[in-house]
Amino acid sequence: MTQDEIKALVAKAALPYVAPGSILGVGTGSTVNHFIDALATMKDGIAGAVSSSNATTARLRSHGIKVFATDEVETLPLYVDGADEIDPRGHMIKGGGAALTREKIVADLAQRFLCIVDASKRVEVLGRFPLPVEVIGMAAAQIARRFEGIGGRAALREGVVTDNGHPILDVHGLAISDPLALETEINQWPGVVTVGLFARHKAHLCLTGTSTGVQTVLIS
Ligand code: A5P
Repeated sequence: MTQDEIKALVAKAALPYVAPGSILGVGTGSTVNHFIDALATMKDGIAGAVSSSNATTARLRSHGIKVFATDEVETLPLYVDGADEIDPRGHMIKGGGAALTREKIVADLAQRFLCIVDASKRVEVLGRFPLPVEVIGMAAAQIARRFEGIGGRAALREGVVTDNGHPILDVHGLAISDPLALETEINQWPGVVTVGLFARHKAHLCLTGTSTGVQTVLIS
């Protein structure tokens, strides 16, 4: 199987977790795109979705799935999204697709985070994938220096502006042994909009696609 076929397989395996009649949160990325396509097969059985990016909104609408604004819902039973890396405790690096801020906002509304990944995303320690950080532009250099102070190398993602109009720093060289502590620390730095560490908003359940099938890992 190709990696794309594995992504389609794991995306389809998420469908049984979608409660009939519910509004669910939908993430962003190539794996989630497969999930949205699969969700379209049961679109009459759900009320709709809250989207984490303009790209996801467009894809949901192209299938005739109703998109609700975040302020139209108080809570969501489920958020389905991919990840760039996920550790055994469900902590993730996200933001490879630059949607990290809205992803964290929608995840915050959800009672459960269902992460769908192919096996290449499962790691013991986060940090091989460069950590994305959405920042206010005027603070980028100062934030990059702060990362240098903790052993990271921050590079501006060329030609990318988020849906919120901000640049992204990708931080290389971090071995993230305590994701919750690092997320908490980076959140204190002026000019940080969102760090792509999802420790406070970690996954509760992870479906991992492999060439031989889908593994289900219940984290909490
Ligand atoms: C989007 O900003 C990211 O958080 C994605 O969830 C992550 O990059 C996974 O994307 P793929 O499913 O395309 O690998």
